[in-house]
Formats: sequence, C-alpha cells, structure tokens
Amino acid sequence: TTPILIDGFGRRVDYIRLSITDRCDFRCTYCMSEDMTFLPRNEVLSLEESARLVRIFVGLGVSKVRITGGEPLVRKNAIWLFDEIGQMPGLRELVVTTNGSQLEQQAQALRNAGVKRINISLDSLNPERFRSITRTGDLNKVLRGIAAAKAAGFENIKLNTVLMRGVNDDEALSLLEFAIAQEIDISYIEEMPLGQVDHSRESTFVSNQTILKLLQQQHELISSAESSGGPARYWRIPNTKTRVGFISPHSHNFCESCNRVRITCKGELYLCLGQEDKIELMPLLREFPNDDAPLIAAIINSMTIKPKGHDFDLQRAAPAVIRFMSMTGG
Ligand code: GTP
Ligand code: 5AD
Ligand code: SF4
Repeated sequence: TTPILIDGFGRRVDYIRLSITDRCDFRCTYCMSEDMTFLPRNEVLSLEESARLVRIFVGLGVSKVRITGGEPLVRKNAIWLFDEIGQMPGLRELVVTTNGSQLEQQAQALRNAGVKRINISLDSLNPERFRSITRTGDLNKVLRGIAAAKAAGFENIKLNTVLMRGVNDDEALSLLEFAIAQEIDISYIEEMPLGQVDHSRESTFVSNQTILKLLQQQHELISSAESSGGPARYWRIPNTKTRVGFISPHSHNFCESCNRVRITCKGELYLCLGQEDKIELMPLLREFPNDDAPLIAAIINSMTIKPKGHDFDLQRAAPAVIRFMSMTGG
C-alpha cells in the first residue's frame, strides 16, 4: 500500500503550501519591514526541484497544493510550474494565494493550468491607503486583476483581508460589500506576529469577534458548518453568493485539525506556521538527483516533529518566530 503522512498526534497531512519565492512587489506593513532583504537567487530551489518535491508529496497522499510566496506570480516562469503540477495524477486541488498585481496578465494561464481557486489579498478600497499599507501597491491594478480572474472563469475567488486597528478596521463593512457586489468570498485574518515589523502587533490588533459583531449590525450572517479544510470558520449571507470567513489564530485555535505543512523557496519543510520546527530538503534534492527514496524517508520521518500547534503571543516584545510570513507563505 502507498504510504500516507500521519503526524505524532494522529493528524493526516494531505495539504502542502509551497512558497516559490520570498520576493514580492509589495511590502505590506504587517508582513514585512521597510528594509526587507530577499534571498539571493542561488539559494532558492529551481522550479524543477519544486515540481519534484510536489510529485513526491503527491505520492505520499497529498491531494491539495497551494502555491504561495512572497508573491508567487513574480517568480519568472511560475506558470511552467502551475502547468506541471496541474497535470499530476492524484492531485485533487491546485490553488494559489496572490496579491493580485499580476493577475491581469496571468489569470487565464492559471485557469488553463487547472488552478481551482484563487485567494487575493485586499486590505483597503482606498487607493492612498492601499498604497500606504502595501507601501508600493497600486489598487487599480489589483482591481483589474480581480476582474481578470473573473473573466478567466474562476468561480472560487476569495479576498484575504488583514484588519489593523486605526489603519483599516473602518473598512470591514465596505470590503464585505465589495465582495457581495463582486459575488466573491472574503476572509478576515487576525494579524499574526511573524517576523519583526515596524509596528507593535499589539497596537494594531483587532479581534475577529469585534468584526463579526460589526458586520452583523448590517447583514444577517448564518453560521455554516462547511470548511475548506483550512483554519477559517465560514458564515453565509442569505441571498448573496458571498461566504465570509474568519481566520482567528488568537481567539480560535484550529491547530487540532491541522492538515498541512509548508515548504519554503529554500526547500525547508516547516511543520507549523507558528513554530521553528523544520527539516532541510535542498541538500537531499541535490545529493540524490535521481533517487527519491532519501527524500521520501526524510519527509515521513519529519511527521514525528510536527508540533501540536502555535502559541502566538502578541504581548511579547520580540516575536517568537523571527521568520516573516513571506518565507512560508502563510
Ligand atoms: P485554504 O487552506 O484553502 O482554506 O486557504 P487559506 O485561507 O488557509 O489560505 P490563504 O493562503 O489564503 O491564507 C489565509 C490566511 O490563513 C493567511 O494569513 C495564512 O497565514 C493563514 N493560515 C493558513 N494556514 C494556517 C495555519 O495552519 N495556521 C495559521 N495560524 N494560519 C494559517
Ligand atoms: N498576519 C496575518 N496575515 C498575514 N499575511 C501576511 N502576513 C500576515 C501576518 N503577519 C496574509 C496576507 C495574505 C496571506 C497569505 O497572509 O495578507 O493574504
Ligand atoms: Fe507581499 Fe503578500 Fe507580504 Fe503583502 S502580504 S508584502 S503582498 S507577500
């Protein structure tokens, strides 16, 4: 029988999040510091190496792959990798998380590669504010990207919104109304303390409970049992196509049902978003170019060190996890 991945707590791992670059054309304030530096190219896996890893994981029963970054679509020839993964037998779902800046050009190619769902970050509908949160981003380009994704036939588009107190928390409702008008989904994400950014995480924290209450003053939200196999809890709004998700690592710990591991663009296999436990796959990829057995053994073995869960603490002066979200792609 083919092996599957089960960790020390009996959790089945059937989902990988693969970051294909730490680079990004944006510099979102909650994600990066202003003076963020990126890896030199020779420290990053080739796309062929990334494809090889995905193939191995699919052979170990992984059925869902999310491509992330940094911004995955700024990686040169990213579409080659999507095409490659999209054709792998055994894969049920290929999905992507993007900032939307390149979708105008690439949405159709993603669709053709077999990408099922797209998550697009959107934290403000005000162009100046959008610029100040992303430091470099152009709101209109992202809005054109969303339109391009719809035009390419994507039905499952989800906005990801990180609300920060005093920065954009006054836009919770207008972003929901935008999602309803666009007939797409939206998830509100509580800011997580990954890497040292230029503000204290505590100063901007808004709980999703507060956001939910605020939205409920204007809309009827019906709790939904459905799950995409991810951390979000979903609500439906009657007579709309929009589902509202809340990813609340601080108030609702979802680690118990964790089904995922992460691969960075350097080939590190991180067993948890909020912990440092990892193994290095790049040395094995390079030492054994024609033999997958050592990689398979290392991956199966890594399951014994997958931690029980994260322990994010916003009060800590320095974050316990020093790597930025852009290394592991969330
Ligand atoms: P699905 O897994 O398909 O439901 O998508 P998703 O919403 O999890 O993926 P996406 O890449 O859009 O990430 C949205 C937010 O969820 C990001 O802020 C991620 O960091 C966060 N997230 C995803 N997985 C985990 C996890 O295992 N733990 C924590 N704490 N956050 C996660
Ligand atoms: N906390 C929460 N979400 C974050 N993202 C990036 N950094 C953080 C953070 N520190 C979000 C982005 C993107 C998703 C992959 O993760 O907005 O939508
Ligand atoms: Fe780039 Fe995404 Fe980080 Fe923003 S959140 S800087 S878009 S990787």
